[in-house]
Amino acid sequence: MPVGTQGTVKGISPEELRDIGSQFILANTYHLLLRPGPEMVARHGGLPGFTGYPGPFLTDSGGFQVMSLGHMRQITEQGAVFKSHIDGNVVELPPERSIEVQEALGADVIMAFDECPPYPATEEYVSASLERTARWLERSLRAKTKSEQALFAIVQGGVFPHLRERSLALTLPFDTPGFAIGGLAVGEAKEDMYPVVSQVTNALPSGKPRYLMGVGHPEDLVASIALGVDMFDCVYPTRTGRFGYALTDDGRLNLNSSKPRGELIPLDADCDCYACRHFTRAYIGHLLKAEEMLGPRMLSLHNLRYLHRLVERARSAIERGGYTEWAFAWGERYFKGRI
Ligand code: GUN
Ligand code: ZN
Repeated sequence: MPVGTQGTVKGISPEELRDIGSQFILANTYHLLLRPGPEMVARHGGLPGFTGYPGPFLTDSGGFQVMSLGHMRQITEQGAVFKSHIDGNVVELPPERSIEVQEALGADVIMAFDECPPYPATEEYVSASLERTARWLERSLRAKTKSEQALFAIVQGGVFPHLRERSLALTLPFDTPGFAIGGLAVGEAKEDMYPVVSQVTNALPSGKPRYLMGVGHPEDLVASIALGVDMFDCVYPTRTGRFGYALTDDGRLNLNSSKPRGELIPLDADCDCYACRHFTRAYIGHLLKAEEMLGPRMLSLHNLRYLHRLVERARSAIERGGYTEWAFAWGERYFKGRI
């Protein structure tokens, strides 16, 4: 899922999203609550009407954004309290308000209100936090009034196997239509992330979507799909694009450096995106150097298309029963000379 925090995937139009094969777009309760406010989105009939993107939306519940961006945040049993980064007003965000806002935003999938503990955090903190997150899940479900929205629960527990087990035991009985794995990609080493993903996916029901929140890089997608993950969101493709990088099967290409700026070939010979069909690396390098906005825009578009194609290829490899071979071949080329 491309990330459209403010109700827009930075620099990319709804028509372009359709052309590159985007499906779900992720939007954020925290940001849209502060600006323009849920009422304005609701007056447009919800996110599709507000943003002009007719496809499905998923909204994150706000807990994670309060943690990572919120000024003067405070977490209590009641919920989160923080100072708006826009006007300094004190905003209360208990689970009930998160669900009320997510109903006004009108996404197809909404997320339970949870706490993503910072990393590193002590075992004691993570333990108390996951217990509270489970109580917030119950309150989130009780606050829900709209049957047409699917509410996904979020498994927490940090990098502690017994705490993940405890979170699973508290979360699975709610039998929500999908489950998310939270609390990862917050600074822990990748060697610590994959065992947690594996433990959680092994315990989740096989017939419901599993969503790994805030992940990730191409290699994280390839590895986590092998571990049984179905959904991802990450700012990485658009953010690294804005910084001048293009994702390809040969690794990440830096268009700020002089070599690609002399090359009269597309960003990625295998890609069918608008940028790869029309522009050379030299031209995009020139756009970056000249600080023209088309450069970051085209790199964001290409990177999103790269990840959509990556999961399309993963899907066909799974369907023909050859995922492991495909994944290793992909990794060998992607990391060639770098591992
Ligand atoms: N995005 C990335 N990680 C998380 C998480 O643990 N919880 C929520 N709500 N969003 C996230
Ligand atoms: Zn491309």
